Amino acid sequence: MPKHPTITEDGIAQLVDTFYARIRTEPILGPVFEAKIAPDAWPRHLATMRRFWSSVMLTSGAYSGNPVSVHRGVPGLERPMFAHWLALFTQTAEDLFESAPAADFAVKARRVAFSLELAVFHRLGAPPDGLALPQRKAG
Ligand code: HEM
Repeated sequence: MPKHPTITEDGIAQLVDTFYARIRTEPILGPVFEAKIAPDAWPRHLATMRRFWSSVMLTSGAYSGNPVSVHRGVPGLERPMFAHWLALFTQTAEDLFESAPAADFAVKARRVAFSLELAVFHRLGAPPDGLALPQRKAG
């Protein structure tokens, strides 16, 4: 199948369906999704995610919701999962879209994933993960 040359609602729908089909079988992320989303609730989740990505990529305004509070209520969600999520999402976008639109997805996904990760996990006063605080010289 030829790759999508631009980002359209149809392309977003295909990306969402393909991404979550993959995620459900991914060993780290799959069990977290399966535990929270009942089998008969998947169509609703996919519809929500289509609206979300339509809002992010096409500024359609189709999505309204609060992803931060939703993810605070996902049992088993751990901070390192965001890197897995992002790698799988970026790969799926590359598989389905030509390189320019795939890169647009990757940039947006990275930004949203990073801010979601911070909102859910960062605690004021704690240093950001992986960053050492600069050493100050005494005197
Ligand atoms: C890091 C791993 C992640 C896991 C395990 C995860 C898991 C979930 C689960 C289980 C739900 C459904 C919650 C429910 O309906 O009760 C959900 C919803 C959602 N997720 Fe994630 N998520 C992850 C990362 C992300 C990222 C990076 C984004 C955005 C770039 C995202 C965007 C959303 C959105 C928009 C919803 C719908 C919120 C609503 O109901 O309005 N998720 N996620």
